[in-house]
Amino acid sequence: MAAHPEDQKINILTSAYCHFLPQGDIAELDMGCGAGSFTVALAARYPERRIIAADVMLGRLRKVVRKMDQAGLQNISVLRVEARNLIAMMLPDASLNRIHLLCPDPWPKNRHRGNRLICSDFTSQLHRVLKTNGIFHFSSDDEYYCEAVNKVIAASGIFESYPEGIADLSGIKSDFEKRWLAEGKAVHHRAWIKLPLPAVTIGH
Ligand SMILES: C[S@@+](CC[C@H](N)C(=O)[O-])C[C@H]1O[C@@H](n2cnc3c(N)ncnc32)[C@H](O)[C@@H]1O
Repeated sequence: MAAHPEDQKINILTSAYCHFLPQGDIAELDMGCGAGSFTVALAARYPERRIIAADVMLGRLRKVVRKMDQAGLQNISVLRVEARNLIAMMLPDASLNRIHLLCPDPWPKNRHRGNRLICSDFTSQLHRVLKTNGIFHFSSDDEYYCEAVNKVIAASGIFESYPEGIADLSGIKSDFEKRWLAEGKAVHHRAWIKLPLPAVTIGH
């Protein structure tokens, strides 16, 4: 028996690769899924959807696999991959219905801000991989970070605020959200819907 039998269910992505994407079905990505409580609860509530759990940390992905096996779920794909590579280079256009980025590290210090995922460039890649009317869902306990993300996405002009896009998630919480709530902190959620790109014209 391998030391970590969970590893058989963890896909390591090093190049463009999309066989885990169901054709025609609903596909949602939990980007930076951590220990997977959100992924597993979402997959259990909606067994007809494919939930992709992606993270860089192997130890956390093993926890996701253990939870998904305990719950007997077949609709989760577990990927070990860096989020920028996944979104910018590995996923095909219009491949996901919804992307969740929940309680990411806020990297409050200026010298660390290059680690923040959300920036203008990344926003256009989120737009690229979402299907028509696709949803981007973000949460954080850090009000300043939430507001900064709000501004970047509003300024992009390619998403519109759409809180209804997460109405089906009531009661489903990530591990970090549970932790922050237990500490008495508020966790803010935002959701945006993908807008069509403006028509491109050249010349007059
Ligand atoms: C603060 S935890 C939040 C985990 C989970 N979303 C939750 O709310 O419980 C951030 C997670 O994102 C992962 N992560 C951070 N940067 C990443 C990146 N660039 N690509 C993929 N995963 C990343 C970390 O390994 C960690 O599991």
